[in-house]
Amino acid sequence: MSHQEVKQFMRSERWNASNAKAYDAYRFLSKDQGWRNLLRGMLQGVPSGATVLEMGAGTGFITSILAAEGYQVLGFDLSEDMLDRARQNLADRGLSDRVSLRQGDAESVDLPDSTVDAVVSRWVLWTLPRPRLAIAEAARVLKPGGIAAFIDGRVLSQGWAARWRGQLTDYFLTGRKPGWRDACYANFDDQLPRISAEEVAECLTEQGLEVREVNTDVDRITDGPVRSWLMGGGWTSHAVSAVKPI
Ligand SMILES: C[S@@+](CC[C@H](N)C(=O)[O-])C[C@H]1O[C@@H](n2cnc3c(N)ncnc32)[C@H](O)[C@@H]1O
Repeated sequence: MSHQEVKQFMRSERWNASNAKAYDAYRFLSKDQGWRNLLRGMLQGVPSGATVLEMGAGTGFITSILAAEGYQVLGFDLSEDMLDRARQNLADRGLSDRVSLRQGDAESVDLPDSTVDAVVSRWVLWTLPRPRLAIAEAARVLKPGGIAAFIDGRVLSQGWAARWRGQLTDYFLTGRKPGWRDACYANFDDQLPRISAEEVAECLTEQGLEVREVNTDVDRITDGPVRSWLMGGGWTSHAVSAVKPI
C-alpha cells in the first residue's frame, strides 16, 4: 500500500462515521482534570488567548480542553467524520467560537512558517506512515518561542484475560465485534513506524527545537487505572514537549 492509500483507508474506513461514534464512546473513561493538568504542564508559558494548532483533532477531546483554557484553537483532521463529532462536542460545551476546524493532513500542513504559538497532538503520530514529517511540519509552523506538545503511545503485549476484557468492553460500549481491528490493520500495519517517545524527542531536536520534557508514563495522570483495567491495559501513553528557540 502507498502512503496515499494508507491515508485514504484511514480517512474513509478506520476513522469513518461509525468508528468516530465508537471512539467518542470512550470519552468518559478519560479524566478531564488529568488531561488538563498534563496539557498545562506541557504548555507552560503559552498564555491564554494564544493560537494553538491541534494536529489530528479527532472528536475534539483535547480541543475542548484547550478551548476551555482560553486558547484560540486551529484544529484539523484527515477525517471529516471525526471532525463532525468534534464540532458537535464543542457546540454542546459552548466552545465553538474559540475553535476553527477543517480537514487537513499532519504530514503536509496548510499553514505558512512561524504562525502558531503552540502545536498539540494526541495519539496521532502512531497513525501516520511518516510521523517524522508531521513533527517537521509542527516545527515549521511554530513561532520562535513556541511549544510543541506531542502525546502518543504504544501497544503493550497482553495476556488472554486482559485481551478478552478489552474486547468485551469494546463490544458492550460500541457494538464492535472482537477482531474488528484485524481487518483494519492487516494491510498496512507494517507501513506505520510507530515511533517511540525517545524518537519523537530526537526528531524534535533534529528540527532545531529544545526538548523540555520526555514523560514515558502519563496514564497515571490522565486516564487512570479503571480505563487501563477495562481496556485490558493494552496501551500506554507518553508525552514529549519542546520549545522552538527565539
Ligand atoms: C486515535 S485518534 C486521536 C484523535 C484525537 N487526537 C484524540 O486525542 O482523541 C487518531 C486521529 O488521527 C487522525 N489522522 C490520521 N491520519 C491523519 C493525518 N495524516 N492527518 C491528520 N489527522 C490524521 C484520524 O482521523 C483520527 O481522528
